[in-house]
Amino acid sequence: MCIISCMSNSPVFTIRDLDFYYGASKALSQINMDIFPQKVTALIGPSGCGKSTYLRCLNRMNDTIAGTRVEGQILLDGEDIYAPDMDLAYLRQRVGMVFQKPNPFPQSIYDNVAFGPRVLQMTKNRSDLDEIVERSLQRAAVWDDVKDQLRDDALGLSLGEQQRLCIARVLAVEAEVILMDEPASALDPIATAKIEELIHELKKRYTIVIVTHNMQQAARVSDSTGLFWLGELIEFDATEKIFTNPQHELTEAYITGRMG
Ligand SMILES: Nc1ncnc2c1ncn2[C@@H]1O[C@H](COP(=O)(O)OP(=O)(O)OP(=O)(O)O)[C@@H](O)[C@H]1O
Ligand SMILES: [Mg+2]
Repeated sequence: MCIISCMSNSPVFTIRDLDFYYGASKALSQINMDIFPQKVTALIGPSGCGKSTYLRCLNRMNDTIAGTRVEGQILLDGEDIYAPDMDLAYLRQRVGMVFQKPNPFPQSIYDNVAFGPRVLQMTKNRSDLDEIVERSLQRAAVWDDVKDQLRDDALGLSLGEQQRLCIARVLAVEAEVILMDEPASALDPIATAKIEELIHELKKRYTIVIVTHNMQQAARVSDSTGLFWLGELIEFDATEKIFTNPQHELTEAYITGRMG
């Protein structure tokens, strides 16, 4: 197991000896990983190997599934996110999530983005809220598409626009980390390219962890890549190394399409 140690910044996430169970069934085993700020970390591997489970461990989304259990440690800026006094709303504000299928609320575009800031009472007046909504939509590269229709139903947008709106929703609450679970798999090639460009732009400010089945996408967008296999992290290293000189034969087999 290679933990990237050559990067200068301290990690945002430090994952140590992580095991995860659905009831009696162990879905993750002894995961160790450092996730660095303003980098894109890609998670790859065959269906059912635990990528989504792992992603959901990082903001405790698995807590919503009855009978799940975590062992080991996940530190966010040195703080144990599984500590009993961890504030889950605060955690999920800092560590936002974007899913495979865009899931805007059946409300206006404006209200979708304003939802989080309103719940968190982030602003005192309407013009501050307007500013957050505009800034978030701009950062999510969807402002130009929606600026003249902010009061329209978000469900009327194209899937690609909906996905960027969902990213804007995460940015609006000032997330630091964005977890993306196959964010482009429901999108056409043009909408996919826009998401990839956006990821490139977002990593100047944010830390991104992305699950993808698309090897080219992982190679294009990420700085480091981890291969999961049957609940284990088989290899984790700089993306270039994973795709040009993998150390593990399973990685080699997977990236060349001979497995999974
Ligand atoms: N809610 C759940 N309850 C019980 N078992 C689950 C649950 N969700 C996932 N699993 C099991 O945990 C394992 C890992 O699943 P997970 O969804 O994390 O894989 P994945 O790598 O994201 O797969 P895919 O590429 O198909 O999305 C699988 O064996 C799966 O059946
Ligand atoms: Mg999955």
